[in-house]
Amino acid sequence: MREGKFITLGIETSCDDTALALLEGPKTAIRDVISSQIADHSPFGGVVPELASRKHQEAFLPLLRSLFSKAGMTPDEVDLIAVTAGPGLMGSLLVGVMSAKALAQAWGKPLIGVNHLEGHIFANILAGTGLAPPFLCLIVSGGHTEIVLAKEEGKYALMGTTRDDAAGEAYDKAAKAMGLGYPGGPVIERLACGGNARAFDFPVALKDSREVEFSFSGLKTALRTAVQRIKDSGAGLPVADICASFQRAVTESLMRKARMAVRKTGVRRFAISGGVAANSSLREALESEAKRAGWEAFIPSRGYCTDNAMMIAAAGYSAFMRGERSDLSLAPDPSWEIWG
Ligand code: KG4
Ligand code: ZN
Repeated sequence: MREGKFITLGIETSCDDTALALLEGPKTAIRDVISSQIADHSPFGGVVPELASRKHQEAFLPLLRSLFSKAGMTPDEVDLIAVTAGPGLMGSLLVGVMSAKALAQAWGKPLIGVNHLEGHIFANILAGTGLAPPFLCLIVSGGHTEIVLAKEEGKYALMGTTRDDAAGEAYDKAAKAMGLGYPGGPVIERLACGGNARAFDFPVALKDSREVEFSFSGLKTALRTAVQRIKDSGAGLPVADICASFQRAVTESLMRKARMAVRKTGVRRFAISGGVAANSSLREALESEAKRAGWEAFIPSRGYCTDNAMMIAAAGYSAFMRGERSDLSLAPDPSWEIWG
């Protein structure tokens, strides 16, 4: 232990980012490093699972050395190894979990398997805002669109999820349809800045449903149809207007159900997390709703919205302090759910 401080090594390899981090105590970031595979998957317009696991394998050890050298620390200062054990891609998770088990064994350190979604929720703890249950969290990423009720530390209930695509997946597919590359979210957000959000009347699905549930496949189809129609007409594609209108529809879908979840539970502490939570339109919409309706909004810094290992270290630290432990039988679970 470092001068009485508890150090957690976080390991995240569930999708296409190899990420490692050192965290001190519950929320003090020491250093984190990420090896992104965006350039490798970009030509395919999405993540290729086999390629992702190979790239994690290549990146892991050099990244680990670079983390300790940048932090000016050594492995014997680590008190806990926290690794994402699911949900995610099996081949990708395997690289992180097997590496974590080998390090725990070699260094003689305790090990804890972390749920990736609980990690996303803990990105809010890193902001140091004192978020404590009960609270609602909209987890919105490339693979997930869920509103979760955190009832108490480590206890979650699922309020609702998507019937089809995740919001981030919709951003990625929309970008692909316009030939804008992968990942779609950041590029659509950038182009939307110069566009008219009312130029296209894209659908907001399940407006009348009384359930907390999402659907983005109709929106994706509406965008593809509009793009094809304009291309067929020979006119130039008004990319900025399409991006702005698409972004408005996604944000409106998310915020409608956020309001519904607050109404249903009476819980007015609302957090967001996951890659799409980096989106300014969603961040601004949540802030202005919070002001209007008297909610407390919790929004992680952009860097902790997308996949990172600091959030995994924070969730692992919390679980460890609650008495949870993993041993060398820890195995990845690609469809691990946190809600009971
Ligand atoms: O959380 P994340 O890094 O990985 C998953 O666990 O999926 O989320 C990645 C997703 C991608 O679909 C990406 O297009 C989206 O988050 N994303 C964004 C933004 N940045 C990333 N979507 C909208 N606006 C952004 N600024
Ligand atoms: Zn994620």
